[in-house]
Amino acid sequence: GIDIDTSATGPQISDRMYGIFLEDINHAADGGLYAELVQNRSFEYSTADNENYTPMTAWEEVAIGNAPGNAEVVNDDGRLHERNRNYLHLALPADGGEYGVVNSGYSTGITVAEGKKYDFSVWAKAPGNAAAPLTVRLRDAQGEPLAEQLRIETDKGGWTRYTGTLTATSSSTTGRLSVTGSGGGSLSLDMVSLFPRDTFKGRDNGLRADIAEKIAALDPGFARFPGGCLVNTGSHEAYEGPDWPRERSYQWKDTVGPVEERATNHNFWGYNQSYGLGYYEYFQFAEDLGAMPLPVVPALVTGCGEDEATDDPELLQRHIQDTLDLIEFANGPADSEWGGVRAEMGHPEPFGLTHVQVGNEENLPDAFFDRFLRFRDAIEEEYPGITVVGNSGPSSGGTVFERAWDLNREHGVAMVDEHYYNSPEWFLANNDRYDSYDREGPDVYLGEFASQGNRFSNALAEAAYMTGLERNADVVKMASYAPLLAAEWDTQWTPDLIWFDNSTSWGSANYEVQRLFSANTGDRVVPSTATGTPGVGGPITGAVGLSTWNTSAEYDDVRVTSADGETLLADDFSSGADQWSHTTDAGNWAVEDGAYVQTETSGENTMVTAGDSDWNDYDLEVTATKREG
Ligand code: AHR
Repeated sequence: GIDIDTSATGPQISDRMYGIFLEDINHAADGGLYAELVQNRSFEYSTADNENYTPMTAWEEVAIGNAPGNAEVVNDDGRLHERNRNYLHLALPADGGEYGVVNSGYSTGITVAEGKKYDFSVWAKAPGNAAAPLTVRLRDAQGEPLAEQLRIETDKGGWTRYTGTLTATSSSTTGRLSVTGSGGGSLSLDMVSLFPRDTFKGRDNGLRADIAEKIAALDPGFARFPGGCLVNTGSHEAYEGPDWPRERSYQWKDTVGPVEERATNHNFWGYNQSYGLGYYEYFQFAEDLGAMPLPVVPALVTGCGEDEATDDPELLQRHIQDTLDLIEFANGPADSEWGGVRAEMGHPEPFGLTHVQVGNEENLPDAFFDRFLRFRDAIEEEYPGITVVGNSGPSSGGTVFERAWDLNREHGVAMVDEHYYNSPEWFLANNDRYDSYDREGPDVYLGEFASQGNRFSNALAEAAYMTGLERNADVVKMASYAPLLAAEWDTQWTPDLIWFDNSTSWGSANYEVQRLFSANTGDRVVPSTATGTPGVGGPITGAVGLSTWNTSAEYDDVRVTSADGETLLADDFSSGADQWSHTTDAGNWAVEDGAYVQTETSGENTMVTAGDSDWNDYDLEVTATKREG
């Protein structure tokens, strides 16, 4: 039974309790939320991004009318902008033929819907030709036209942006966009782009409407961006001309201004990030969602599998100044230097930034704090109203976590970001995690959490856990599931909240739970007590892959069997959890043939789950014999 005490009041729940964490992982931005349909539009892909990439990735040469010509990516002084290094040089056939390139988009191809409009643009330079004509075609993989072709006359002279509109005459998920030139001589191209007209809120350089609308349906209270590991890994050097470091940490100044002037960068998750969806677009999206923007800047101490602390005072000072400039970009008047950049981009009004996060999941808490405090001092001195958010490292416990929390408390950090990805059993067993957190200490921002799977049982475990967050809403002020987005055609991390391919997107069971909580956030906790005995023991069969039982006291001879009859675990618990037949030295984790078995022990309860290496649970049968007496 549940007893509700209507005469008492619990903590108030903030309107921004539930929000989103946007990181370009799983092609969340490029190839996903960012609506650009042309892949590698500026010929910048490089082996530094991905060993399979070349500047011609997603492009092929095409000759129409068997015309002789040539297409070559060049990197020379003739470039469109010094940050946009490469461009395409076409040698064109005379005598009526056409030569050029064709782009195959992401995954299956460019996806268009019959009757919809698509905005084409290209930067071109025709030094040798007067009015060299360009032809733009949209066809499917079989060569069938998907729109009436465009013909664009280019002017003789320097780089110029040309535009046109294609209206799809039929629907396809295998579109190919070709741009060809004719008339002899040469023609240079860069920033070949195709956007659906129907972006979210109809914005130029905008977002894919179906994905953005699913995010909007969460009614998020805040939007943390742009990462994650994306932020604090890689070189912290800035873009510096031809020898610019190819794997830079995410530095906001690289991502604002006209898109053709943004340098692309290696993405930590193994592809190229165009930065077409950059800081301005993130701020604007947050505003469109009615969400508090929460940018994350690198603290010059890496995490995410790297343990390095940059020891360069000048570089650190430059990043601190960049963070102050970021606040000016967001909040400064239109006649300030960085507020002026924002105004020039189309938003003279401030974005109303109130929080900045410094760092993400650093493994070296002392080195991190040394830098964090310098950021915080500088920010507080110039912008005393801004809350600077810290973090507690990459896990839900352990020595790094403990040390980080000690430092956070010692230095009175206002809000601490925690991250954990654990089994559903862990979430069920740790519902009381925040009951004992210090009410006088820092607020908690649960910036990344997920139980390992997209099954109903995962969603249920997360829902149960979130009741514990709400019960502790006086300490836990914000929470965001992670990762938010995943392309089903190139996924670096599962599970994820919202999935998409080129034509559609769908929310997971976990998404429905987040939406339930986030779109219906309560005002105040009403204290309640539950009584009754949760079901325990086996046999349990089915897809849930989860069992809890009181091992030492009640059960003997516990066996976990996979659906095809293989014994995954067997134990009589005579000498503790090390008797699990598949357990390795790695604590509770046992990985065999790409599978995992995890046991979690909390008090007298041991919980078991097993699955494959993608965190898909196996169907399990759990049997146990109840002890006599
Ligand atoms: O959400 C995926 C990754 O998980 C984030 O980039 C990182 O912060 C965490 O390790």
